[in-house]
Amino acid sequence: MANSKAVAFIAAIMFIILNLTGHCYGDLQFGFYNGKCQSSDVEDIVRRTVVAKFFSDKTIAPALIRMQFHDCFVNGCDASILLDGNNSEKTASPNLSVRGYDVIDDAKAAVERVCPGVVSCADIIVMATRDVISLSGGGRYNVQTGRRDGTVSLAQNTASLPSPSTSVSSAIQAFASKGLNATDMIYLLGGHTIGVTHCSFINDRLYNFKNTGKPDPNMDWELLTSLRRTCPQNAAVDRAINLDQNPFSSSVVDKSFYNQIMLRRGVFQIDQELAIDSLSKPTVAAIASSSDFTTKFGQAMVKLGAIQVLTGTQGEIRRSCRAVNGPTWPSLFN
Ligand code: HEM
Ligand SMILES: *[C@@H]1O[C@H](CO)[C@@H](O)[C@H](O)[C@H]1NC(C)=O
Ligand SMILES: *[C@@H]1O[C@H](CO)[C@@H](O)[C@H](O)[C@H]1NC(C)=O
Ligand SMILES: *[C@@H]1O[C@H](CO)[C@@H](O)[C@H](O)[C@H]1NC(C)=O
Repeated sequence: MANSKAVAFIAAIMFIILNLTGHCYGDLQFGFYNGKCQSSDVEDIVRRTVVAKFFSDKTIAPALIRMQFHDCFVNGCDASILLDGNNSEKTASPNLSVRGYDVIDDAKAAVERVCPGVVSCADIIVMATRDVISLSGGGRYNVQTGRRDGTVSLAQNTASLPSPSTSVSSAIQAFASKGLNATDMIYLLGGHTIGVTHCSFINDRLYNFKNTGKPDPNMDWELLTSLRRTCPQNAAVDRAINLDQNPFSSSVVDKSFYNQIMLRRGVFQIDQELAIDSLSKPTVAAIASSSDFTTKFGQAMVKLGAIQVLTGTQGEIRRSCRAVNGPTWPSLFN
């Protein structure tokens, strides 16, 4: 009796220890870099780089928000989107206008100058995105850090990104496969409160919706007329269109996206469907009349930032965000 109790006791202690070490080691943390870069504040170094860039080009905000989505949704938040290469993610067609690679390079250079080999590119994407969101009127939320960089980036992996004509139910499934529920998804699509798309992504809605030869009946008539002016059929140039069609807030991170889609002024089909499909309509209406969108959006970004992360000793801390680490000279001589 006494013996089996002792065994059970030891097993319980070991279970607790394993659990504790697992948690201390493998998880993302708020403030992971505190004290890891001499007396420097890593998040502050990144923020200074991002602020400087933002004041010379405010469109860096939507660029980075989209970058975090594409990085995290494809093979987890491992900075795989940053890798150059003939067949890497950034060469795939959904990459299209993903931009902002240079500000990540600048932030990486700034942290490397102070503490080389410490801060991952995957964390820099998440910190920089948080910064542009707060610079654009969204709230400032705390980010978790401790991600490590992946070593694989394949164009074909971007197939997991949904298309603008996807249905609400398949979008919910796509997000569920990444551990995000329908509410998270509806908040995250609020990312389309800022930034632009191009005519080529919406021409079908303007002229030939679902091969009917007619426009999407769910688009507000005034919006249709105005978008058709910007996007004439067979135009030679692929013009940019604001995703948030409220002219006063098209570059502000706020809840106006939801008010717009309730007025049938959504630009993408999936955005418009959110306000119509019974799976999402009640949540859209609730957000449109709420006062805590920016808080909830920040929380959803944190959850997006935790998809399939590499931590602990997994992956690596890249020296350059654009390439996996090659062998170092000392290791060649060992
Ligand atoms: C069903 C999911 C989604 C689809 C189908 C989708 C699709 C797209 C497309 C096609 C573009 C425009 C590309 C172009 O014209 O070059 C775009 C832009 C954008 N997306 Fe999404 N997206 C989705 C979810 C998200 C999420 C979750 C976020 C962020 C949290 C996001 C943030 C953005 C931003 C900020 C832009 C503007 C980029 C810029 O101005 O440079 N999207 N999206
Ligand atoms: C890309 O392909 C070219 C030509 O095949 C090759 O010379 C180059 O090294 C490749 N680049 C990378 C990064 O793999
Ligand atoms: C994005 O994809 C397109 C089409 O595949 C390609 O031509 C372009 O070079 C890619 N963009 C980047 C930054 O690699
Ligand atoms: C979705 O996830 C959020 C954040 O983790 C949580 O607060 C919410 O209760 C979840 N919603 C549903 C319907 O499960």
